[in-house]
Parts: sequence; C-alpha cells; structure tokens
Amino acid sequence: MSEVRIGLVGCGGIGGVHARSWAQVEGARIVAAADVDRTRAAATGGTPYADYTAMLDAEALDLVDICTPPKWHAPAAIAALERGRRVLCEKPLARNPDEARAIVAAAEQSGTLLMTAFCHRFHPPIVWLKSLIESGKLGRVVQYRNRFGAKFEGIESVWFSNPDIAGGGVLMDTSVHSVDLFRHLVGEVVGAASATHTFHAHVHGLEDTGTMLLTAEGGAIGVIEASWVTPHSKNIVEVYGEAGAAVVDYNTGTASWCPYGESTWQQTELPDENRFVLELRHVAAVVRGEATPRVTGHDGMRAVEIIHQAYANRL
Ligand SMILES: NC(=O)c1ccc[n+]([C@@H]2O[C@H](COP(=O)([O-])OP(=O)(O)OC[C@H]3O[C@@H](n4cnc5c(N)ncnc54)[C@H](O)[C@@H]3O)[C@@H](O)[C@H]2O)c1
Repeated sequence: MSEVRIGLVGCGGIGGVHARSWAQVEGARIVAAADVDRTRAAATGGTPYADYTAMLDAEALDLVDICTPPKWHAPAAIAALERGRRVLCEKPLARNPDEARAIVAAAEQSGTLLMTAFCHRFHPPIVWLKSLIESGKLGRVVQYRNRFGAKFEGIESVWFSNPDIAGGGVLMDTSVHSVDLFRHLVGEVVGAASATHTFHAHVHGLEDTGTMLLTAEGGAIGVIEASWVTPHSKNIVEVYGEAGAAVVDYNTGTASWCPYGESTWQQTELPDENRFVLELRHVAAVVRGEATPRVTGHDGMRAVEIIHQAYANRL
C-alpha cells in the first residue's frame, strides 16, 4: 500500500485535531471527509460530502476515521464495516453496550479492522508508566487513582449535555478514557460502582460530576473522578504497588516514581510528543500491516460496558 487513504466522518473539534494530526503522519492522507456541515468537511482538504454513506460508496478508502458525536458512531461504523472498510472510532465507542456490541459484531462478521481512539494509551508518560508496571518495579499493583477535571463552559448548549446524543454524562465522555487506562495499566475490571451528581442548573438527564470505584482481577482497586464544573483540577494518574508508586501529572507534564526503600521521587524525562499524532501514526502502521493494534474495538466496548455497570451500581 503506497498511501493510506483516509475518509474522515465528523469534522468538528476532534475531527479537526485528527485532520491536523493526519497531516503529520507520513504516507497517510485524508482523501475525503463527510460532515452534515459540508463546509467543515471541505476545510479538511479532502473531497467533501454531507452524507457519509455517499462518501463510503464513492471513495476507495483504506480507513474510515469516525469523529462524530456518539449517536452516529454505531450507524457510521457499521456502514463502513459492512462495506469492508477498516474503522477507527472516537471514544466512547457507542452510547451504550448494545450499540458497542453491534459495532464489534459488524467488525467480526466482515473480518475488518476496528480500533477505538483511546489516545491516552499513546501519551508518552502513560507508555512509560505501562512499561514501569510491566518491568515489575512497582510490584503487584494495589491501588490506582485517576482524575480528569475542568470547567466545561457552555455545556448546556452543546450535544455533550444531550443524553440522546451523548449516551451519558462526564463518566461516559471523560472517564471512558480513565476506565480504558485502568484496564490497560492494571487489568480487566470485575466490579464497578459510581456516585454521580448534576450540579449545573441547566443540565438534565446526565451527570456533570462523578466518581467510580473499580475492582480488577487480582484485587487491585481503582478510584476515578471527573467533573465538568470544577475550574481547577489536577489531571493525574497514580499507581501504587507493593514495591513502589508512580504518578503521571498531565498539568505539569511530569512523570515520577519512587521505589520501596527510598524517600526521594525520581523524575523521568520524556519526549514532548503529541499523543494524537502518535496514535494515528500507529493506526497507519496497522493499516499497512506493519503493526498489530494496541487498542481494539473490544477495548472500546468493554469501557462502555463498565461505565454502564457503574451507572447500574450508583450510590
Ligand atoms: N479523544 C479525545 O480526547 C476526544 C476529545 C474530544 C472529543 N472526542 C470525541 O469525539 C467525538 C466528537 O466530539 P467533538 O468534540 O469533535 O464534537 P463536535 O461537536 O465539535 O464535532 C462533531 C462534528 O460531527 C458532525 N456531525 C454530526 N452528526 C454527523 C453525521 N451524522 N454525519 C457526519 N457528521 C456529523 C458535526 O457537524 C460536527 O462537525 C465524540 O465522540 C467525543 O467524545 C474525543
């Protein structure tokens, strides 16, 4: 394959991030783009379409990159997979477990590649943390803590606060990354519970703040926090093991760890590389057959299933 030909579906906020990131991936190019707002599709430089099915029928594509709001992930992904097109789909893979399972089933039936865009797996400090855990230097992982928070200005007037489009609140939108990181770093989830609340006066039917409690095979326990109403927030991943601890701090861009028996935390120097570019470079390598997927459709489905399990076990 001389060039990876990409069709982008959904050219808004993250679609724009993907478009700019694809431009930095050698040997890959957006040849077509679909958005209900055709001017956004045209801005990518690819042949613009307002209807993604028209794009899928007209264009020879090696990969369909889906960046619409969650409501259209299942119809767009299934339409692409049924046509034998490889799919990269933004998180959450779908609004609910049934839709996520339908996407995974379509990939299995067509024998076609399906990946979920969990960009944090490619964040260099997370790559470092994963290898530190796998090296055994932290010993058996005992506890995991992760918080992603911010103030989401104008949430009440965008799709993120519409349950029919989003499928859930801040846990589904933001903590879906955290659940995936827990599975990636610690292990498969066996138990999930949550406490949620909606503080925003004009947000209804979904949570703007939540905490999840997860348990893993082997006993490790995770606490995940997220909020759309907290202007100041640590954005942080912490892993505590029997032989040491490690912290990735997104705010400061630092990663550090401390082995058992020492009192000084060691800072680790890491490359300041963009996780989206690294993610898409990997996806292009998978499409070319040069790499095996580091994140799958099954991973996306599991994260949605776990969040629904946590919603069902609300305090
Ligand atoms: N990985 C990340 O860090 C990250 C960050 C932000 C958003 N996201 C995810 O990306 C997805 C999109 O979020 P966003 O912030 O870009 O939203 P957005 O509203 O900024 O953009 C969505 C785009 O999709 C288009 N669209 C809507 N319905 C469509 C359809 N049926 N066909 C074609 N285009 C359609 C809209 O016109 C818009 O241009 C969501 O699933 C979100 O959770 C991921």
